[in-house]
Amino acid sequence: MDMTIERLGGSFAARVSGIDAGNLSNAQAAALHQAYLDHKVLVIEGQDLSVAQFDAFGQLFGETVEHPVKNFLHPDFPKVMVLSNSTRLGKPLGVKDAGSFWHSDRSYMERAADATILFSIEIPDEGGDTFFGDMEAVYDALPEKTKARIDGRQYVSQYRWSTNRGDPESRWNFLMPDELEKTPPVVRPLVRTHPETGRKGLFVFPGVSAGVKGIVGMDAVESADLLDELFDHMTRPEFHFQFKWRDAGTIVLWDNRCVMHRATTKNLPPDKVRTLHRISTLGGVPA
Ligand code: OGA
Ligand code: MN
Repeated sequence: MDMTIERLGGSFAARVSGIDAGNLSNAQAAALHQAYLDHKVLVIEGQDLSVAQFDAFGQLFGETVEHPVKNFLHPDFPKVMVLSNSTRLGKPLGVKDAGSFWHSDRSYMERAADATILFSIEIPDEGGDTFFGDMEAVYDALPEKTKARIDGRQYVSQYRWSTNRGDPESRWNFLMPDELEKTPPVVRPLVRTHPETGRKGLFVFPGVSAGVKGIVGMDAVESADLLDELFDHMTRPEFHFQFKWRDAGTIVLWDNRCVMHRATTKNLPPDKVRTLHRISTLGGVPA
C-alpha cells in the first residue's frame, strides 16, 4: 500500500496512511520527514509498536532526549515518558497531565525540542483531546505594526516561573531542588525562524511551563500589554486543530519549532483512563 497524506486542519495537520511505523523503508522515512515539515502535525493510526519500536521511531526525528521531570520515565527506555491518569495501589502510573495550557515543549530549555511524538496505549471513550496551534499562521495574521514591534525582539523565560508563587503548577511547588537548578532563565526570540524551512513563526507561549517573565528592553507595563495582545491573538480558534484520540495504536507527532499545543487532561475523570507513551527530540537554540 502506498503512503497517502490527507490534510486535517485549516493551515496544518495531516493524517498519514499506508505505512507501518515499525518497519519503514528509507524512502518512506524521508517522505514522512518531508510531511512533518509540510504539515507540522502528523497523525498515524493503526500502528502496532513495541516500546523498543516506538523508541526507534522517535530517533527518525532527531536525537531523543529525557524529560527534565524524571519521575515517570519508562524503566527500560528512559527517553520514553509515560503519560497516564491511571493508578496502581494508589500510586500514579504516569504524568497525569502533560500541560493543559498552550505551550511548546522545552521552549524554556537552552536547547528546545524539535519533535514530540505520542503513542496511544489506552484511550477513553471521551475526553483527553489534544489541541494544536499553527504559530506560522499566527505570525502571518498579525498586523504589520505588531510584526514590526516584535521582529528581532527577545523575552526572558524560566520553566514554570509565575507571578503567582502559590500556584501548585509553578516552579516553587512543582519542581525538585535539582530540577530547579537545571532550569535557569533563558532568553528567547519572540519570532523564530524555522531552521529547516526558513519560515517565521511566533515563539512565545501563555502556559505556565513557558514562565514568560517579560520582553527585553520594555518596561513592565508595555511588555505585559504586548504579551496580552499576542496571547489573545494566538488563542483564536481559527489557528487551531483539535485532535480526538480514538484508539490505542495512534501516533501523533508535531514540530515544536512552529506548533504550540495543549492537553485537556487536567480534570479528566479517573474512570476515563488515558495512557500514552511520549518521546521528544533535542532541538537547537531557538533563533
Ligand atoms: C506533551 C503534551 C499533550 C496531551 O506530552 O508534551 O503536551 O494531550 N501532551 O497529553
Ligand atoms: Mn507538551
